[in-house]
Amino acid sequence: MKKNCLFLIGVIVLLLNGCEKVTPLDRNQTLIDKDSFEEVGYISSDDIESKAKKMYEKCAGCHGKNGEKLALGKSDPIGGKDKEVLATLLMGYKYGGLNQYGLGGVMEAQVFNLSDDDIELLAEYISKLSGE
Ligand code: HEC
Repeated sequence: MKKNCLFLIGVIVLLLNGCEKVTPLDRNQTLIDKDSFEEVGYISSDDIESKAKKMYEKCAGCHGKNGEKLALGKSDPIGGKDKEVLATLLMGYKYGGLNQYGLGGVMEAQVFNLSDDDIELLAEYISKLSGE
């Protein structure tokens, strides 16, 4: 009698497991799809480029669309300068009270609320401008 009971339970367990359907991947289904990347915030280099471009809009008023102007008649043209130099200058205005021509305060106001990552992005963007 006991043995029969165990056997029955075994059969039931087997039947229940058998009910869990495993569907094979159909041909159009890929294991990793693009949408799942976008959900976790994957950003493309195009997005980075357009973010930098957008940030530079407020700089262009003084420095020129291509970084060609002498801002308020004082600064060097910044377009096409070395990326590292630009980042160092901007960090100097943000943290270091940099004041090259007596108008450092104007620049501090421009960059104090930018993150360090944004400054890197801007520096890269400006380094690629023609400066003309
Ligand atoms: C209101 C006008 C104005 C705006 C807007 C402005 N700047 Fe400036 N920028 C200046 C002035 C003036 C200086 C010179 C500051 C000094 O005395 O050191 C300067 C200096 C600089 C320099 C150093 C140039 C050199 O001669 O070494 C860089 C780089 C720079 N700005 C980048 C930016 C960026 C990036 C933005 C936008 C986030 C920006 N600026 C927005 C006026 C401006």
